[in-house]
Amino acid sequence: MSQVEKAKITDVPQIHKLINGFADKGQMLARPLSEIYESIRDFFVIRDHDEVVACAALHVSWSDIAEIRSVAVAEDKQNKGLGAKLVAACLKEADELGIKNVFCFTYRPDFFKKQKFVDVDKMELPRKVWTDCFRCPKFPNCDETALIYHA
Ligand SMILES: CC(C)(COP(=O)(O)OP(=O)(O)OC[C@H]1O[C@@H](n2cnc3c(N)ncnc32)[C@H](O)[C@@H]1OP(=O)(O)O)[C@@H](O)C(=O)NCCC(=O)NCCS
Repeated sequence: MSQVEKAKITDVPQIHKLINGFADKGQMLARPLSEIYESIRDFFVIRDHDEVVACAALHVSWSDIAEIRSVAVAEDKQNKGLGAKLVAACLKEADELGIKNVFCFTYRPDFFKKQKFVDVDKMELPRKVWTDCFRCPKFPNCDETALIYHA
């Protein structure tokens, strides 16, 4: 366990279960199965044998900005560095793509601050990043914290 890998299409049902288990408890936003299939190339996973125990996604928003979303680590695997490894993998991929800015919306700002993210005013983010917000059930009353990482 603890090796970060690109997700495979067969991981989707487990990724969906992992994310939506936390979403049901209000800890992160839900992701429909269809959206995870469509964005499977965004996802990294960590597996324990055949079980997906952690996931995260890097979604390109615009010419110089991407979003880390859907960071989730199974409860019995938390505090072992898996979340940090997944964020590092997303930041590495952003760097390889030539993207210098990576933002996130989260209820766990302190976790992201440990990964060198800093607070950012949501209104400072390019308008393009709001495209997905329109689909969020909480829009326009977003209660997540926006943070950004500058390479
Ligand atoms: C938040 C979450 C992704 C963290 O994953 P994790 O694997 O437990 O975190 P790590 O073990 O990699 O922790 C890395 C560092 O962040 C810290 N950290 C972890 N969770 C934290 C939290 N909720 N608040 C503050 N710091 C946190 C750790 O103490 C560790 O610090 P260190 O580098 O000084 O040792 C995980 O708890 C989770 O999946 N929570 C439920 C879903 C969720 O809230 N996702 C957040 C994205 S919206």
